[in-house]
Amino acid sequence: MAAQASPPTKKVLVPIVAGTEPVEAAVPIDVLRRAGADVTVASADDGELVVEVMYGVRIVADALVAGGDCAAAHFDLIVLPGGVPGAANLGGCAALEAMVRRHAAARGLYAAICAAPPLALASWGMLNGLKATAHPLFVDKFPPEVAAVDASVVVDASAVTSRGPATSTEFALALVEQLYSKNKAEQIAKEMLVRYDAGYTIDEVNSVQWKCNGTPKVLVPVANGTEEMELITIIDVLRRADADVVVASAENAGVEIVARHGMRIVADTTLDEAAADDQTSSFDLIILPGGTPGAKTMSSNEKLVALLKKQAAASKPYGAIGAATAHVLEPHGLLEGKKAADQDGGGECESRVVVDGNVITSGGTGTAMEFAVAAVEKLLGRDVAQRVAEGLLFA
Ligand SMILES: *[C@@H]1O[C@H](CO)[C@@H](O)[C@H](O)[C@H]1NC(C)=O
Repeated sequence: MAAQASPPTKKVLVPIVAGTEPVEAAVPIDVLRRAGADVTVASADDGELVVEVMYGVRIVADALVAGGDCAAAHFDLIVLPGGVPGAANLGGCAALEAMVRRHAAARGLYAAICAAPPLALASWGMLNGLKATAHPLFVDKFPPEVAAVDASVVVDASAVTSRGPATSTEFALALVEQLYSKNKAEQIAKEMLVRYDAGYTIDEVNSVQWKCNGTPKVLVPVANGTEEMELITIIDVLRRADADVVVASAENAGVEIVARHGMRIVADTTLDEAAADDQTSSFDLIILPGGTPGAKTMSSNEKLVALLKKQAAASKPYGAIGAATAHVLEPHGLLEGKKAADQDGGGECESRVVVDGNVITSGGTGTAMEFAVAAVEKLLGRDVAQRVAEGLLFA
């Protein structure tokens, strides 16, 4: 009997550039890697692997778009994230345009979200005669040859388009369905606790005022194995709210970390430095992204544990999502007497975002946007949260 060959690994290219929207890049990278795809993150910046995208997030690309390996490679899917001016920057990248044209001519699947459908794909004439969608602020940039549709995700022929940060997960799952199967997309959605509706509700007990005067200072610790979608959603949403977010690495090796699904991200500083900085002006909120390996590293970082205990003793806000609740807060007694969100959603508490006094917790990757916007509401009030949610298309 002949051995059955396993299907070849699907190859995906995600180009990023200065001004790329980080959630719109991180979500497809994360979700497609969960599906088993071999995802190459390629920089369209001239010769630079470290790309500063929107909201000061620094991503280390795996390759250069214009580099020989990348330009010559075959991909099953090319995904263009949006952002301002990221989408226009991708649209202006001649090497990328040549690649996507060659890919489409070979009947490859291509996709874009937010401003990238009009400013990249349509500007190259690659959506002519097709239905497509985009961020509402950019829909009028489509040429008359494109049939603009008001939907979260549109699939027409080999083109998949979507609207913005809040539809990134639905977009990424649609790409999994196109590359693999509906079944696989559904399985991943379930594991990630994905919910398709926009908006959030906070299950709150022992309500206290979190609001601070002026710009809130927020600590976001990271380590190797931190869940990238959770991390980047937290940073993106809090910086949209104009919080002063400090991303601090718990790794001794330095500020570059490798996230749970292989995204390489450069932190702003180390936890040692953040802890020293806390002496002069303390954090208004400490918020922990999940990802089990990263959470375990955080849990054994004495500086971080001391900061969290100080925060708790002062009744100041702190929170965790996904694995960080069970691996960091719980073992250090930081959840004592508190109601918290359950990681798998099936336990004692089925709420997606729980606030108990000064502690906020949430289930996992699929609840990251709800969690981050809820934290903005507690810290800066409903009006700011509403403005941020609208920008994300999450209202
Ligand atoms: C974490 O990742 C960085 C960057 O790749 C690496 O240099 C470092 O050795 C890793 N740390 C651990 C503890 O594995």
